[in-house]
Amino acid sequence: PKLWLIVPAAGIGQRMQAECPKQYLRINNRFILDITLSRMLNSGLFAGCMVPLNSTDSWWPESDASNDDRIQTCGGGAERADSVLSALHALKEQVAADDWVLVHDAARPCVHPADLANLVSTLADHPVGGLLAAPVADTLKKAESRDLPEVVETVDRSQLWRALTPQMFRYSMLVSALERALKDKQPVTDESSAMEFSGNMPVLVEGRPDNIKITVPADLDLAGFILSRF
Ligand code: CTP
Ligand code: MG
Repeated sequence: PKLWLIVPAAGIGQRMQAECPKQYLRINNRFILDITLSRMLNSGLFAGCMVPLNSTDSWWPESDASNDDRIQTCGGGAERADSVLSALHALKEQVAADDWVLVHDAARPCVHPADLANLVSTLADHPVGGLLAAPVADTLKKAESRDLPEVVETVDRSQLWRALTPQMFRYSMLVSALERALKDKQPVTDESSAMEFSGNMPVLVEGRPDNIKITVPADLDLAGFILSRF
């Protein structure tokens, strides 16, 4: 089976509070989206790449990626899952049902090539697929939501992981899982949640905890530092 890459980039970056969507902020004078795409495509693993963009996006033509003939674009949707499904539909004529699709956030430029390679080789013969994940490091508290939250209990973190990307699933299984989860109004914040809802349990492949998603302003400096080290 071939491998295909989807990099959802249709978000507006509300929590970043910047003057443009966060994937178009620059680190070392390059768009975050360009850094993410080049790190993923440099692996040479992919038969093709689809990037769903927001209909209001006016920055894409300024990206390096827009001049890269390995990269195709399509329209995004209201939520991340809608954007991913739109990209899956846009790939329809090019893929086989059991081809692998890797979905990787545009806002995750620090993904390490060794983690990408490890994810792909670990899952190659798996029936469902899985995702990069990192064990939770902090002690976790459950609290009542109020002005000054009061601890209810300390949650056992020994079985808890942070879901990262890439997430890697078979094309047709992922399409069905996302369509069903969206139709049933399930919360789908990643591809794995949709697969879980369909009863196909994904595997966790341990990845580096510094594969951060740039979400708030402080993450920008952090990502710059992480990227300066490899
Ligand atoms: N994304 C997308 N389509 C959406 C929402 C998000 O393609 N409708 C993409 C974002 O561009 C990002 C990734 O999904 O690369 C992860 O989403 P998130 O970090 O939540 O980005 P935003 O939705 O842009 O940020 P915010 O939630 O703060 O508005
Ligand atoms: Mg979002």
